[in-house]
Amino acid sequence: MATLQAVKGMNDILPGTGEVKRWQDLEAKFRRTCVLYGFDEVRTPLCEYIELFKRGVGEDTDIVEKEMYTFKDRGDRDLALRPEGTASAVRAAIEHNVVSPDNPVVRWCYLGPMFRAERPAKGRYRQFHQFGAEVYGDNSPAVDAEVIGLASSYLQSLGIEKFVIHVNSLGGPESRAAYREALVAYYSLFRQRLSPESLARLDRNPLRILDSKDPRDVELRDLAPKISDSLTDMDRSHFQRVCNLLRELGVHFVVNEGLVRGLDYYTSTVFEIIDTSNALGAQNALGGGGRYDRLFKELGGHNDQPAFGFALGVERLLLSVPQAAEETPPVRAVILTQRVDPHEDACTVALRLAKILRAAGIETIVDSRAQYSLKPRMRFAQNKLKATHALTIGGVELANNTVRVKRLGAGVHDATEVSFHSVIEYLRGIPTTGCSPDESGAP
Ligand code: HAM
Repeated sequence: MATLQAVKGMNDILPGTGEVKRWQDLEAKFRRTCVLYGFDEVRTPLCEYIELFKRGVGEDTDIVEKEMYTFKDRGDRDLALRPEGTASAVRAAIEHNVVSPDNPVVRWCYLGPMFRAERPAKGRYRQFHQFGAEVYGDNSPAVDAEVIGLASSYLQSLGIEKFVIHVNSLGGPESRAAYREALVAYYSLFRQRLSPESLARLDRNPLRILDSKDPRDVELRDLAPKISDSLTDMDRSHFQRVCNLLRELGVHFVVNEGLVRGLDYYTSTVFEIIDTSNALGAQNALGGGGRYDRLFKELGGHNDQPAFGFALGVERLLLSVPQAAEETPPVRAVILTQRVDPHEDACTVALRLAKILRAAGIETIVDSRAQYSLKPRMRFAQNKLKATHALTIGGVELANNTVRVKRLGAGVHDATEVSFHSVIEYLRGIPTTGCSPDESGAP
């Protein structure tokens, strides 16, 4: 029978390689940063009705047109695995009436898997993870600057230094209408040279042509009109204030007039964080976001609701984070029972001791495979279980109410008989390297 494999572009994260720990570190730091900025975590379902993303992200976007995992459930309903978190969060905020006169400003963050059927490559997967943060209810440029600042300081807290933040403004409805006209006028001159996909988008959603990766469209982009020429005074002033505040906050950024983002819901400020370390190759966007003041209404909210947010790609962060220096491992004990008759006695003591050690906060694993010799079990404990101490229980130890403790590590050969009542102190008191048991004052 053929061996089953994970779905292409969807990865296992295996223990034993330090990889899980790196994920946990990033998650813990993201949560910590969010708490510092007053964000609460929201958890939404992994799948939603397709309609949400069609209306939210936009029918003409690559995500909705060709990248969503869609399926019918048993009730013949059209569902999609979420390709991003913003639409789901807004859906939940509307559904639960979260923004209200009593609760006018809401700050939410989220962590979790997203799904896009893109061609897998380094830094581009079909199941990937995002850390996101969204603010609802405040249209001030201060929110744009502060949230971009949050993303920037989070990256710095991870030790990521080589990145640049691109910012632009896509303007509100009035600016967009004027820009749309300018784009249609420009691209209409080149109908024959556009890719078929962009030609189809020309009348429906010309902004999307700027986002196309087709070389035919890329070639025409340089001379295309810039949104900055169509911005109303109000939109221009909002963007100016965002840029000024970012400077005040010491956030390094560049204005990139070509930045349009790949999702339809944006209005006004947009930004993207680009890795400049070359660790990511072509997939160099660590994250992106912006203002989306019309999405609440679009998804059925009673009113427009100002909103601003971003999401970071966790796999890309992991590729970009500098490798941390090796940390001193915590004390981890493996209790090994030896062959005694009956073996139950050794097992009982081992499980009791394990319970006591864990209650004292010491990581403990019991290895009761007494039928195997001690040497390979010790090797397994040290190399695979990453144990710092092996605690063996045999006939002598049972008779004396003791346990034989051996520090595991290169060049360490000592083993000491320690009475049960002082094992905790003994394990805590001995540094895992560089000191002999006698110096610890242990029995
Ligand atoms: P996005 O630019 O589509 O924005 O995705 C944000 C980040 O997710 C990207 O910059 C990238 O790091 C990561 N990402 C996207 N697709 C993949 C993939 N196939 N494999 C690996 N990583 C990927 C959004 O999703 C918006 N919801 C952001 C937002 C929040 N805007 C406002 N609020």
